[in-house]
Amino acid sequence: MNPRAPSGSGDLLAGIGATLEGPLSRDEKLRRTVRLLSESGKHFTWTGIYLLEGETLVLHNQVGSPTPHERIPIGRGICGLAAREKQTVVVPDVGHDPRYLACSLSTRSEIVVPIMRDATVLGEIDVDSDRPDAFSEGDRVLLEEVAGLLARIL
Ligand code: SME
Repeated sequence: MNPRAPSGSGDLLAGIGATLEGPLSRDEKLRRTVRLLSESGKHFTWTGIYLLEGETLVLHNQVGSPTPHERIPIGRGICGLAAREKQTVVVPDVGHDPRYLACSLSTRSEIVVPIMRDATVLGEIDVDSDRPDAFSEGDRVLLEEVAGLLARIL
């Protein structure tokens, strides 16, 4: 495991890995992964997975409030930015980022991690927090490792 990942994340990664290798359907694996991630950190207020369909990110499932942004074109919002740039985007203060598309008024910070196979974006993990500047380097490392696991089943 990556030494910069947060303590306890080894168990989480092992649990997600076992879920993804198991007999469940792809959709159920995606739902369980979101649930496991959501339960893993108190600062994960909204956790979801989007899948890329053509040029549009389509929300597959989430834990958290319903969002008006279930379909996001590449290039729009923080989600669309991460897909276009093919890299993780961390926004410590969504109130100061004009690219941010609001899901909930209580959201203060966000991290979006692309799920990639080689140079192809397959989808994204999106996590919002009601805490400002909630996402550490450890969170990034953890979510990027989970994205790597998810890429194997998409
Ligand atoms: N904030 C995202 C939109 C998705 S909702 O947060 C769930 C964005 O700016 O792309």
